[in-house]
Amino acid sequence: MKYKNIREEELKNKVGADWFKVFDTTEILGNIDFTVFPKQDNLFGRTPLLWAEAKTGNFDVTTMFVQLVLTIGKARTFDKTLPPAFLGAFDFKKIAFVPYINIQDIFYLNDFNWNVTPSNHETKEFLLIKERIEAILSQYTFIYDYEKDEKELQHFIKNNIANASTTSKLKIDKNNFIPIYLRWLEIVKPIINVKWDELNKANILDSDFYLADLFVDDKDTQQLDDDLSIRDSLFVVFQNEGYKIAKENIKQMFDANITLKNKETYLQFWKRYKRPPIKEFQDYIIERRDLLVPQDIRERKGAFFTPRIWVELSQKYLTDYLGENWQDDYYIWDCAGGTGNLLAGLTNKYNIYASTLDQADINVIHERIEHGANLLKNNVFQFDFLNDEFLPVSKGGKLPDSLYEIVINEGKRKNLVVYINPPYAEAGNKHTISGTGEHKDNTTNNNITHSKYKKTIGKASNELFTLFMTRIYAEIPKSKIGIFCKLKNLQSPNFKDFRNFFQAKLERAFIVPADTFDNVKGIFPIGFFIYNLELKDLFLEFDADIYNKRGEYLGMKKLNSPDTSKGFINNWIKKIKRSNNVEEIIGQVGVARNDMQNKSLCYFAMEAGRGLNISQDTIIIDSIFLTVQSSINATWINDRDPFFYPNDGWQIDSEFKTNCFAFALFDGQNRISINEGTNHWIPFTEQEVNAKAKFESNFMTEFIKGKIKKEISNDTLFEVEAIAESKPLVFSEEATAVFDAGRELWKYYHSQNDVDINVNASFYDIRAYFQGTNAQGRMNARSEDATYTKLIGALRNKLSVLADKIKPKVYEYEFLKE
Ligand SMILES: C[S@@+](CC[C@H](N)C(=O)[O-])C[C@H]1O[C@@H](n2cnc3c(N)ncnc32)[C@H](O)[C@@H]1O
Repeated sequence: MKYKNIREEELKNKVGADWFKVFDTTEILGNIDFTVFPKQDNLFGRTPLLWAEAKTGNFDVTTMFVQLVLTIGKARTFDKTLPPAFLGAFDFKKIAFVPYINIQDIFYLNDFNWNVTPSNHETKEFLLIKERIEAILSQYTFIYDYEKDEKELQHFIKNNIANASTTSKLKIDKNNFIPIYLRWLEIVKPIINVKWDELNKANILDSDFYLADLFVDDKDTQQLDDDLSIRDSLFVVFQNEGYKIAKENIKQMFDANITLKNKETYLQFWKRYKRPPIKEFQDYIIERRDLLVPQDIRERKGAFFTPRIWVELSQKYLTDYLGENWQDDYYIWDCAGGTGNLLAGLTNKYNIYASTLDQADINVIHERIEHGANLLKNNVFQFDFLNDEFLPVSKGGKLPDSLYEIVINEGKRKNLVVYINPPYAEAGNKHTISGTGEHKDNTTNNNITHSKYKKTIGKASNELFTLFMTRIYAEIPKSKIGIFCKLKNLQSPNFKDFRNFFQAKLERAFIVPADTFDNVKGIFPIGFFIYNLELKDLFLEFDADIYNKRGEYLGMKKLNSPDTSKGFINNWIKKIKRSNNVEEIIGQVGVARNDMQNKSLCYFAMEAGRGLNISQDTIIIDSIFLTVQSSINATWINDRDPFFYPNDGWQIDSEFKTNCFAFALFDGQNRISINEGTNHWIPFTEQEVNAKAKFESNFMTEFIKGKIKKEISNDTLFEVEAIAESKPLVFSEEATAVFDAGRELWKYYHSQNDVDINVNASFYDIRAYFQGTNAQGRMNARSEDATYTKLIGALRNKLSVLADKIKPKVYEYEFLKE
């Protein structure tokens, strides 16, 4: 058997390398085992080709597919990203494919509990899906034995998977036809060969062309012969690969066929959506064509606004949580409305309220309403949410009476969604920290909400967005909140009081890169969170969906409350007993902050900021402390993650300890330098590196050889381990490779015939020698010396291999939580 006796991870790698090497199989998509994407992007991003289940052993194909269907249905992956052309399932003997299109209806089952564990093959849900898809599978599945059907399998992949981009499409329904229109405006409208001015005078709008596009089938022929009402109501129809004006009284004026400037772009665009729209929504879409009003660009003038891609996505999440008819079933209030961008695409103006701080913004919305924006003038009003009282207009207040009714009536309030992207300004900071909100002087601490709740929510009262959340939680209880904000309220240790106070159930969440927001530069996540205030729940953890800046789904990230663990990494490192004896101190480790964002504050130097003394007793632990922070690359996704007090697993993992030690010796955060005193950190003997004289200290090589005896006099936390450490250290293959590469670098340094060579040079000194420093005394990023560049490159390579070995342990021992 081709892939017998290997683990699932290896099976996936092998299948990827043997059969799908011209594709990208590295993308992770939630809990789906295996994905295949084309290597190249096209104009619209990448179309997924295959999502597959992988199993070791020899498995029943139907069972594997059922598990995959349950995995996808549970996460509703197809709502978050374009579905693939094929679903697949493979084990160590065979691989099977079924076109997604043949199976997708299963995901629209009514009243089905998707919330079961997909790998439990005994549940009644599992059996139900099995029953439903068995017949489909037997008709449409292609099964190949890797060995017996090798040629056929290659042929299938080459001809079907590789060319499959056309098969799977997003179904158009009442909740997505507006977002699709907004995209259509960007891509299709510009390629239509027409004078818009003339048409507009005749009251034909671009939305009529969009509707024409919607109501053809994917072979571009009208599908409405049996539905005369829709056909009659279209002003423009699609025919002969172009458009024709069909509005009765003017069609003679425009009898020429309107052509497309670029057919390929048009086809590519419509490859993504299934036309015509789902039957039950066809009439609705025609009836509500009034919603297809192009957004007025002026609405964005000056104000920070939520990017359209995230507005759309947040509304999709609200639909997913509250149901398809949520816009009719719920009231919506954007109480930090600005000029109303967040409300774009919503359909039922009778249920929408918008208020904001500046009257000027209100004026802009009112003007937009006059030009057709889908809001009611009376429901759009000036209101300072952190100061103004909830009082109706009829009693001299600012709230429309109908909204006041909702706010004070518990039954109605349960159906209110406060949907906001609030300002993010912080107290004591004149500029906006994240920039997505307009900062007004003193906004954070000069408002009634601040004074009223300061004691209850502690430091969270310094943030505008938490003040918004606080007032809603306390004064509009039992409502729902849909909010864009940073992750501080969930993850920051400073927000414990807030977490204890704001105990609403978090129901849905996604995170996106902050720099996709207007005017935001930082590399960190901003999230969208849906809370149900009716359900009391202390936040502990939540799996949030992750999207990249193009809106492509990347999988999930666990957000953790820090309140549950033993504390942070600094509490751990500070517990270690340390020597104050100058004779024993070989340097210091900087212990300033606990999170990814500030990990550069953790470094070794003779004197480090907020430094703790390093001695022979602590060097291993201090190396772990430095390495767990330095070996993990910061990304926008993890940038706000805290490092935690670890579990005890690391204590008996000798390889992890020596790996960390080796990493810390050669990492850039090791800034020990002879300029600050004796260098005890040379990891090689004089002979090994052909030094021209004896070193001042051989501490490190002696330590590595286990020659330094330790007196265990005090009861340090890690006493047992300290004893174990007085044997020679044993290094892994990866760590040894780092030492080997490091030795070459040292040798090269000592081979220089230069008076500036210092026999006692540290790793930092050697780098500084070759790379030089700038006028401010900072080390340059590069060196002119080609040999050095090659050697340091090789060392960094080996270090990153070592880091890959260390990383899973950082999570296993819970220094970081995933
Ligand atoms: C990040 S913007 C969001 C704008 C718009 N809703 C969007 O999503 O594009 C935050 C808005 O809240 C407004 N704002 C600031 N303080 C406010 C307050 N105390 N009450 C009401 N709105 C406020 C700002 O003027 C700004 O327009």
